[in-house]
Amino acid sequence: MSAAVCVFILTLSTLIGVVLGVLSSPTNVQVTSRNLNLILSWDPPAEAPNGLIYTTEFKSSIGLYNPGCINITTFQCELSNFSITSYGTYSGKVRALLGEEASPWVESKSITLDLETQISPPSVSLLPVSQTLEVSIKDPEFIISSLRNVYSKVSYNITYWKEGQENQAETLSNVHQDRVVLKKLDPSTKYCVQVRIVTLRNKSPIEPSGVLCERTSDTDNSPVVAAVVACVLIAVAVAVTTLAVVKWKSISHFLWPKVSLPLHFEKSLLTTPESSVCLITQPTEEIAPLSIITVEEGSPEGTKETSYSKQLHGTVGDNCLLSD
Ligand SMILES: *[C@@H]1O[C@H](CO)[C@@H](O)[C@H](O)[C@H]1NC(C)=O
Ligand SMILES: *[C@@H]1O[C@H](CO)[C@@H](O)[C@H](O)[C@H]1NC(C)=O
Ligand SMILES: *[C@@H]1O[C@H](CO)[C@@H](O)[C@H](O)[C@H]1NC(C)=O
Repeated sequence: MSAAVCVFILTLSTLIGVVLGVLSSPTNVQVTSRNLNLILSWDPPAEAPNGLIYTTEFKSSIGLYNPGCINITTFQCELSNFSITSYGTYSGKVRALLGEEASPWVESKSITLDLETQISPPSVSLLPVSQTLEVSIKDPEFIISSLRNVYSKVSYNITYWKEGQENQAETLSNVHQDRVVLKKLDPSTKYCVQVRIVTLRNKSPIEPSGVLCERTSDTDNSPVVAAVVACVLIAVAVAVTTLAVVKWKSISHFLWPKVSLPLHFEKSLLTTPESSVCLITQPTEEIAPLSIITVEEGSPEGTKETSYSKQLHGTVGDNCLLSD
């Protein structure tokens, strides 16, 4: 009986609204958040006339309404384009406009961003390294701030299993690094990995990452190959060292031939008084002789010293600009 009355009154009020030209309001008005953005969305009123536009406002739980998107034709407004903070509680309202007419405002419920935002799953990559799998994890990007700024205690649960044996999955929980090596895996076996972000505060359902599968390498090959490569490298190193010791004299002659400055170099030093090329910074003092010491094998003195100080005297020093 009372239901019938209700229906009657509703119908009557709608009729009166239509007769009086009152614009009907948007429906299903809500605020949602993903990765700390803030979206006010709605459905158009039933039988919305052409040319309907919408205007929105929003407020935090401790403030007054601020203008949001104005005179838009879409059915949502990104409130995170206006100034909002990670820990705020926000609600919005919207009304439809047509010419001079305006519908009543419809308010949404409120949402507390850090507690209720839907956190996207991390992006994960898998790299087989011989008999292990290296899991690299990248946090989702947040619109304002970042995951680790907003939540002080972020960790990952890494679940992994042999392909086809998901019921025997193992989980590493409370992982804080973004790069983890899964060890003690069987060789030549395909493993699947899934990662979940765990925060203590956020209450939205957790979206796990997509499942990634990779095959571990064959045991027998990789250590043998590594050993062979290591042996070859060591042999080459030993050979080069031996050669260097045996041929030291000729190598040193090759590397440090009897020094005489090339003619053009000497000339340019003499002819450019403002030269910024400064080989010796204190020209007025005694120039330390430029010496080349070569170790002579079998020579009784052991060393042989050749002095080149004379040659450089007055050529380099006089043209040197002092930096102080
Ligand atoms: C909000 O910002 C996004 C990206 O910066 C932009 O694509 C969008 O049009 C903006 N929305 C409003 C209502 O300003
Ligand atoms: C929005 O539309 C209304 C009615 O169509 C108009 O009166 C108002 O000036 C418009 N506001 C802006 C900012 O364009
Ligand atoms: C992460 O692992 C811990 C310990 O196994 C478990 O209590 C928790 O429910 C897991 N969280 C998720 C989101 O899977």
